[in-house]
Amino acid sequence: MSNLLGGLPTQEPDKIIGLMHQFAADPRPQKIDLGVGVYRTEDGKTPIMRAVKEAERRLLDQQDTKGYVALSGDPAFRAAMADLVLGPDLPADLVAALATPGGTGAVRQGLELAVRANADATVWLSAPTWPNHWSIAEAMGLPVRVYRYYDSATGQLDQSGMMADLDGARAGDIVLLHGCCHNPTGADLASQDWQSLSDLCVRRGLIPLVDLAYQGLGKGVAEDVAGLRQMSTALPEMLIAASGSKSFGLYRERVGVLLAICANPSAKQRTAETMDWLNRLNYAFPPDHGARLVTMILSDPDLRQAWESELSGMRNRLHQLRLALVQALRDETGGTDFDFIASQQGMFSLLGATPEQVVTLRETHGVYMVGDSRINVAGLTEMTIPIAAHAIAAVL
Ligand code: LMR
Repeated sequence: MSNLLGGLPTQEPDKIIGLMHQFAADPRPQKIDLGVGVYRTEDGKTPIMRAVKEAERRLLDQQDTKGYVALSGDPAFRAAMADLVLGPDLPADLVAALATPGGTGAVRQGLELAVRANADATVWLSAPTWPNHWSIAEAMGLPVRVYRYYDSATGQLDQSGMMADLDGARAGDIVLLHGCCHNPTGADLASQDWQSLSDLCVRRGLIPLVDLAYQGLGKGVAEDVAGLRQMSTALPEMLIAASGSKSFGLYRERVGVLLAICANPSAKQRTAETMDWLNRLNYAFPPDHGARLVTMILSDPDLRQAWESELSGMRNRLHQLRLALVQALRDETGGTDFDFIASQQGMFSLLGATPEQVVTLRETHGVYMVGDSRINVAGLTEMTIPIAAHAIAAVL
């Protein structure tokens, strides 16, 4: 009798997902979850956005078939996402779009596409980056190199380190960037940084793959893509993996799109054919339900307005939480060591704690964060900020 499966090596869980389960299993009522990156309201809920609920009601009434659409997903969804991310200026015959299961699916398909175009590509990841970028690249057997990104002394971008490291990349290499709200640091590129990076990519023939998971949660729906739009007009080729998880609160529905900007219409044609094929051989057709809701929201003026206004409320809340946490940490420590948190964007910041301190925060104080001391600011509330600040000050 065979027991091949029993011979599988043990598999370490993903750091973030493992922590999510650990938190769920913790019986302490006063525990605080600053781990997995999902948005939460003041009462700890991850809400269904109002525009999503309304779109779902309409869809329930109107939808009369669940028949297949297309391997690359609904054309209206692809067009709506391309417009949301890239704006109206890029000609449609240069942009190939593929619906994917979530932003993660788009990252994976983006890398699959890139290595089919250049089998020798090295993937450059920011130090640090979302752990799943590593997992995906390694599972695909791709050579990975890191570029400096974050200056922990300032809590900001290490611009010169990033440029110096990427200057060592070879033509055809893939540079994985974060469109906004860098995960895990919250430190973003300024407009001039996007410009210098675009120049470098052109000069060295590098292909950016921009992971865009938090559009609208940093500075604004348009502001958060200003840098990548700048880059998209400067470079002949570029890939973008956009997610509907956070911006539309559609996490489990798996809404994502891979956008490939191509050098000319015939390259676009070939790219689109390859992208279709990549969906076909992995899961045939991409999920449709969440994508359809996003299309309805983006194309109906009332739903779009409701979405943008709720998103802007979420963004403002994140900013207020950052300010309140900084104030509470000032009160606790009597210093300004954590002020950098207020200048960062999106859900995440790195506290700068050691792995041992992270364990103490979790085990002694019930404050959960990722092992690199990444906190999800959205996990805080008015009530828990003083408690978390007290614990952080005691341990750090
Ligand atoms: C995170 O970084 O916590 C989120 O993107 C959720 C995930 O899948 O890791």
